[in-house]
Amino acid sequence: MRFHFLKALFLSASTAALTAVAAAQSVPPITLDIHLDQVKAHSSPLLYGLMTEEINHSYDGGLYAELISNRTFHPNDSWRSPVERWSLVELGNSKASFAPDKTTGPSTALPYSLKLTVDQASAAAPAGIANAGYWGIPVRPLITYSGSLYAKSVADSGPIHIALVNNDTGLEAAHADLPALSSEWKQYHFTLTTGLIQASSLYRFEITASHPGTYWFSLASLFPPTYHDRLNGNRIDIMDRLAAMHPAFLRFPGGNYLEGNTIAERFEWKNTIGSLVDRPTHLSPWGYRSSDGLGLLEFLEWCEDLHMQPVLAVYAGYSLQGQHVNPGPDLASYVEDALDEIQYVTGDTSTKWGAERAKDGHPQPFALKYVEIGNEDEFDKSGTYDGRFAQFDKTIKAQYPDLQLIATAPVTSVKPDVLDEHYYRMPQEFFNDVHHYDNTDRSGPKIFVGEWATLEGTPTPDFGAALSDSAWMTGLERNSDIVIMAAYAPLFVNINSEAMQWAPDLIGYNALESYGSPSYYAQVMFSTHHGDEIPQTQETGNAPKFYYSVTRQSQTGEVYLKLVNAGSDPQSVAVTLDGAKSIDKLATVVALSAKTPAATNSIEHPNNIHPVESGFKSAGRNFIYTVPPYSIQVLQLKTN
Ligand code: AHR
Repeated sequence: MRFHFLKALFLSASTAALTAVAAAQSVPPITLDIHLDQVKAHSSPLLYGLMTEEINHSYDGGLYAELISNRTFHPNDSWRSPVERWSLVELGNSKASFAPDKTTGPSTALPYSLKLTVDQASAAAPAGIANAGYWGIPVRPLITYSGSLYAKSVADSGPIHIALVNNDTGLEAAHADLPALSSEWKQYHFTLTTGLIQASSLYRFEITASHPGTYWFSLASLFPPTYHDRLNGNRIDIMDRLAAMHPAFLRFPGGNYLEGNTIAERFEWKNTIGSLVDRPTHLSPWGYRSSDGLGLLEFLEWCEDLHMQPVLAVYAGYSLQGQHVNPGPDLASYVEDALDEIQYVTGDTSTKWGAERAKDGHPQPFALKYVEIGNEDEFDKSGTYDGRFAQFDKTIKAQYPDLQLIATAPVTSVKPDVLDEHYYRMPQEFFNDVHHYDNTDRSGPKIFVGEWATLEGTPTPDFGAALSDSAWMTGLERNSDIVIMAAYAPLFVNINSEAMQWAPDLIGYNALESYGSPSYYAQVMFSTHHGDEIPQTQETGNAPKFYYSVTRQSQTGEVYLKLVNAGSDPQSVAVTLDGAKSIDKLATVVALSAKTPAATNSIEHPNNIHPVESGFKSAGRNFIYTVPPYSIQVLQLKTN
């Protein structure tokens, strides 16, 4: 089971410590009267999901397990080195130089390479190039890494040595030798197996030659074992953290990353499929080049691995610096491109793009219900979104009447199925607005809160942010008949300062380790304790920093009472449950608490704040429960 790490955290708590029965009442109690036989509404099973894009090195240097940075030796992004992220290795008295070569490469997509000229080298004093990975290459004991490299050389240049080399000692943790290279571009495969070393990211990846000569390299790749052993797959620790969230959907590929700074730099899905050597890479709006190794099929396989529904965002003719495509004939090719993309996802192998997907290794079509048209199109001041959305809507619905289309800004010429709304706010703004959706018109469109987060904490949110996140989530959950999906954003951050463009972010990591923020644990708690019915509930009393929601699982009768006390005093709650045949006295409590809102988790202290499970023995039809200060709690009540 992959959920063990969370379970272990839950169980590490002393039961007594969290049996919060004390009736300390320094603020007046509030009452919650819950009528289990009166279902006010049904809660969306898709409520809790993920939003993702390439930002903060979310994929390259993050989830995507590739260890080599600038693996294609792209020549245009260089400012610290002739080829960014690659450096020269000259051991002993060897002499060499390297430079980008835009005249030769292994494919049309990669028509360039790195040219290494070795003037002097020997077995004792080789020369070559080194890659520092994404702020280090994580090397662990007794692991086999799978590598590959496109290369060629002029005749008689000699064999190539590949190694993981410790930055401090210069010692190799693992190595492999390639035969003398051919004079034509060819892909070479190798494995690197480590022994009983200490895990560390203070390693570099070296490609060296022991003979003078001229060598060209492209697409150098190295993968550790991946989640579900997928080729070209994802980092296991980060996938484990996502799996623990039980996410129902994945919104991809953005966000701004979908739009690009310019139309030319948009997410062009056709450039992200097929063999890696056929993916040209592209510049993302977050200031760095994306390898596109995590492309359309990899997004879908990520969904498959975590049993998530894809929420596919298609480029809709607007890019961040203001370029737009007018609706009408100008937009037609973009709409066609979206239709091709939908066919790549859903078509069987008799279709053009379904066959292409099969060629890429996935004959089975993916189920798709939601397609989002663009991203944050309220920023398009040309006023064309209404027309653009209508054109996508008409054309897509004509072929795929069952698809639900999501608009990213209000439109009037057609009624969208779903509207995507984004909220990045300070804690108090969320506290003040927890009733935001209480009076929303239930006749639609449905609401997708496609990005939201409390802006407090860096690189990841602190406990104060988790409190206001949770307060906001109680409002989403109470209204989850109309708010059908919601996703915290951004999801990931590589915590190296050079890697981050946006804070706070839900999950942090470096090359070797990852951790969940307090907000991450709040998400896990909310998502894994979520029923399908919202019972009628009356709240009386006035507690300015207290928030709640109640759902009930119709099949099991289990009631999830979420209680958030964002204040500095304990808050007592008098709970009455009626409309059930029986209610167990013993309830399970899952609690996330801290001494101050400023408390947080970090890469050094990943478990400072984590959910703790305990028992509460005085539940039943009527009980008083006291929520400690600064605490997010779920009471799980067994009812029949
Ligand atoms: O989540 C970060 C950015 O915020 C997204 O890319 C964009 O959609 C929003 O403005």
